[in-house]
Amino acid sequence: IPRFAVLAHPVAHSLSPRIHASFGRQMSIALDYSAIDATAEEFGNALGAFAASGGVGANITLPHKQRAAAACDTLSERARRAGAANTLTRGATGWHGDNTDGVGLVRDLTGRHALDLRARRTLLIGAGGAARGVAPALLDAGIGDLFIVNRTPERADALADALEQPGRVHPRYLDDLKALGEFDLIVNATSAAREGAMPALPMSLAGARTAAVDLSYGEVAIPFLAWARAAGAHDAIDGLGMLVEQAAESFALWHGARPDTDPVFAELREHRA
Ligand code: ATR
Repeated sequence: IPRFAVLAHPVAHSLSPRIHASFGRQMSIALDYSAIDATAEEFGNALGAFAASGGVGANITLPHKQRAAAACDTLSERARRAGAANTLTRGATGWHGDNTDGVGLVRDLTGRHALDLRARRTLLIGAGGAARGVAPALLDAGIGDLFIVNRTPERADALADALEQPGRVHPRYLDDLKALGEFDLIVNATSAAREGAMPALPMSLAGARTAAVDLSYGEVAIPFLAWARAAGAHDAIDGLGMLVEQAAESFALWHGARPDTDPVFAELREHRA
């Protein structure tokens, strides 16, 4: 049975083993998918040990997506643009890195939530691995101008540079948010709430047309989604759907067939509503 794993820290609450096991049952594909806890210092050795034990595919999540991209021999175009990898496939000599986060987010928003993303004036909050993963796919999906703010402004500048569309992508200071007006799409890609903090966001960012999306789910997503509802946003969407969609994209890369995500999403939603 081929071996797969998710590497993260902490990893105990990861839903990826459950999701991939469900996909495998649905598609009648036998697989062994485990969870590996690895700190930043342990990551390289943990990935090597997994490969040595016959591991053929790995999902990478917090806080290792940028580290994982650096550890790969080859990268897909979208992983290279993101500078972050969430899906690793073992080749003859090393790992090939890809990133399914962006396409997973776009599929969730345009499919499950039936949102038309085209020409949406968009605000991306955060510039770490999660933000890097989704920004190229949002641009490819036809959003309008993309504004990027981050606690550390240099990282917002670096992400904007990496996206190579200076006419369309604009780094801004968090402190200047009040002056930016209303957005049609707001994506929270910070891990701030995991540390019990959320950047202060003016209500003026959201209005009756706004879709607000948090890339995390469960308790961590609550503060941002509560802010979005209070600010009058039309949609307040957590990252559970994206999680299932990026997993399905990874599954398709490894197994050559894309599972139906709806039953798995429904099952997870029921348990974590
Ligand atoms: P991830 O893979 O979740 O993106 P990351 O690469 O560590 O993890 O990035 C975390 C993001 O959340 C960054 O944008 C980070 O801002 P900095 O670049 O300034 O570190 C942001 N973040 C984390 N804690 C935050 C907080 N308390 N307030 C605001 N932003 C925060």
